[in-house]
Amino acid sequence: MSIAIMCSGGDAPGMNPAVKKFVDYANFNGKTPYFIYNGLEGLINDDIKKASHKDVSGILHKGGSIIGSSRSKRWYEKKYRQIAYENMKKRAIESIIVLGGDGSFRAMDIFCREFDVRFVGIPATIDNDIAGTEYCLGVDTALNVIRDASDKIRDTASTFKRGFVIETMGRECGYLCATSAIACGAELCMIPEVALDLNLAKKILLEEIKNGRNYVLCFIAEGVNKTDCMVEWMEKNLGLETRKSVLGYIQRGGNPTVFERLMAFEFVVRAVDILLRSEKSNVVIGYKEGKFLELDIEDVAGKKYHISRHILDMLNYIG
Ligand code: F6P
Repeated sequence: MSIAIMCSGGDAPGMNPAVKKFVDYANFNGKTPYFIYNGLEGLINDDIKKASHKDVSGILHKGGSIIGSSRSKRWYEKKYRQIAYENMKKRAIESIIVLGGDGSFRAMDIFCREFDVRFVGIPATIDNDIAGTEYCLGVDTALNVIRDASDKIRDTASTFKRGFVIETMGRECGYLCATSAIACGAELCMIPEVALDLNLAKKILLEEIKNGRNYVLCFIAEGVNKTDCMVEWMEKNLGLETRKSVLGYIQRGGNPTVFERLMAFEFVVRAVDILLRSEKSNVVIGYKEGKFLELDIEDVAGKKYHISRHILDMLNYIG
């Protein structure tokens, strides 16, 4: 049996350690490891190669993915999925491990229903927005990137007595924003999931400013789509000269943290084991309350992720 690995959608730190472990662990188990380069587009384009230990030496510490990634519109046309299947079949690849987010798992779900292909998903997205798992590969590094940027912004904000609106990524999900706002000591946090009481925030912050506070940090998730409005609001309502900092794609990069590397290994070993056991597939590996889970694809793909109550409650105390 040959097993392939592919990264799909937004890249996330931790993908490279996963790819490395995959090659080593597949070889160890006597299986031929294959790389599908450049995600679903690569699967359609036959960008598939046998992987060797040499391909993965010296990649463990790198962000991004050495096998590339993509988002594919063509995938949603059956004729391209047929081509993808033929590309797998001619190499006797029956199983794929996919590192990606919800969109990638949905894409694989469609594929596995149509063709005789087995798949195991490993949650990998800095957005940390996949249903059924508390953790996705990449989020820990992204949180540390945000923490680092925010600590630096605080230096200049406090020196210049300014307000700052810091925009984080995360698509429709506020996890990255909320968790970093808590960890970085932001005074305000705006995420799509919760409506911030701006009148109350104004009252509290004006009182603090009267008592000597000279800067305010507001974290805002990109999904709120009101970054410029918040700059205006802070200038008008708090009387602080305010700047914005859109962190953007730096959040997707950087060397994976120790936690991320260890989790990448755990996920991959489990994914390969599931495929070797052969009785189960089309599952996504999740991580919840310190335990790894095998989640049915139906319980993950297209399902909504909810930020835990515990994190939302902690937001009430920021400021
Ligand atoms: O899903 C990861 C992510 O970085 C989101 O946070 C962001 O909204 C999106 O990808 C950006 O997508 P693209 O790489 O297509 O610009």
